[in-house]
Amino acid sequence: MRQSGEQMEESRQGEAMVLENPNGTKKMFLESYGCAMNFSDSEIVASVLAGKGYTSTNNYKEADVVLINTCAIRDAAELRVRNRLKEFNAVKKYNPKLIVGVMGCMAERLKSKFLEEEKIVDIVVGPDAYRDLPHLIESVEGGQKAVNVLLSLQETYADISPVRLDSNGVTAFISITRGCDNMCSFCVVPFTRGRERSREPESIINEARQLFEQGYREVTLLGQNVDSYLWADGKAKKELTDEEAKRGFSFADLLDAVAKISPELRIRFSTSNPQDMTDDVLHAIARHENICNYIHLPVQSGSSTMLNRMNRGYTREKYFERIAAIRQIIPDCGLSTDIITGFCAETDEEHAETISLMEAVKFDFAYMFAYSERPGTAAAKKYTDDVPEEIKKARLQQVIALQQKHSAERTKQGVGKIHKVLVEGVSKKSSEMFYGRNSQNTTVVFPKGNHKKGEYVNVLAEECTLATLIGKVI
Ligand code: SAH
Ligand code: F3S
Repeated sequence: MRQSGEQMEESRQGEAMVLENPNGTKKMFLESYGCAMNFSDSEIVASVLAGKGYTSTNNYKEADVVLINTCAIRDAAELRVRNRLKEFNAVKKYNPKLIVGVMGCMAERLKSKFLEEEKIVDIVVGPDAYRDLPHLIESVEGGQKAVNVLLSLQETYADISPVRLDSNGVTAFISITRGCDNMCSFCVVPFTRGRERSREPESIINEARQLFEQGYREVTLLGQNVDSYLWADGKAKKELTDEEAKRGFSFADLLDAVAKISPELRIRFSTSNPQDMTDDVLHAIARHENICNYIHLPVQSGSSTMLNRMNRGYTREKYFERIAAIRQIIPDCGLSTDIITGFCAETDEEHAETISLMEAVKFDFAYMFAYSERPGTAAAKKYTDDVPEEIKKARLQQVIALQQKHSAERTKQGVGKIHKVLVEGVSKKSSEMFYGRNSQNTTVVFPKGNHKKGEYVNVLAEECTLATLIGKVI
């Protein structure tokens, strides 16, 4: 059962990625933690190193280079990485030539401090410096430690074809923006991933088309805030006049263009932002049957005073207004959210407003977290992390319990209905069953019959568990 974000991360941790390249001589082991963007970035890294003849292995004990793509969003995520490094250290004892590199947000946050804190680390490489990896590896081979944590205003890796790692051959991620300019006061991402920049649309559309031609049937467009995607001849958003911004290629335009590649290609996207999600985007979703009716719209808190402290740029009322627009323009839309409990100075009343917002919206699904202070953020500088740990956790438990009830109710509503499902693979629970998702992102499980991965089937849901519909193809 999908539950809190912490558990979600747990289940995605340590996903090693394998790539066959019989001509290569050296072996890399790549492991990713955290968000979808990190998994997508690892596919860029695999491509950069495959270009240098590296093959990949899923056994770090036989690797020449071990690279770990890290998450810094909460303290717990960083702790997991440090524990994993201890395991790599054990290998280094009998294979001193092993090169250990740390990539991603934790690398960017700690920079060269990482080398002092974790003696076994040889390479520290930030999210905008992956093209430099072959050179960094060479430096280490030459006996030096290597660090590149430069953030870029332009890098989007637009010209690099990601090597699809551990792919089901049906669904794939495509990055459309990098970085984030939102500066939510609790969040470390603007510091670890730098300024927001959009990727040139042709390269996105071409990547989606190529995936479709290779047999993929679903792409998820990725960005920290997809709604602020804007391409205006490569100019930074902040430099644009209102006129230029209006003429630019927006997220709604991008959705239209990708949707037109083929009606057989499904489109998802993540993450939407309440302060930037326009009706144009909602109309684009409604216009195209192949753009899934599912929106992940993080609310964080149901209290306007709290949202103000979080610097989220919207109020409770504005959030409700966006939900109303979704319900009106896309009547059958799946909705999920992110919630933080116990942010600085959160009162009982503010927490109660989060509960009442959840009651009012009834999300299909939510990622829920206890606040974890991140060094360097506005919250760490301006506010005190003063909600006692046990209160944070108690509020989190209350939020999780309520969400489970809502998820179960929403899943049950799908029973007795017919769902168009894209077949993604064999169910984990039974080799006789396939699984896939409906447009609203609910998992649907059904007997395999003569169906194939990558096919669309109509499934009549006959029963359900808390978060999964079970049925048969009709
Ligand atoms: N816009 C991003 C958000 C990335 S962080 C996206 O693409 O989803 C994912 C979620 O982690 C946030 O929405 C927030 O709910 C949570 N989060 C961020 N910083 C946090 C912190 N310091 N403590 C607890 N949760 C946090
Ligand atoms: Fe973080 Fe807010 Fe951006 S949660 S990733 S600063 S939208």
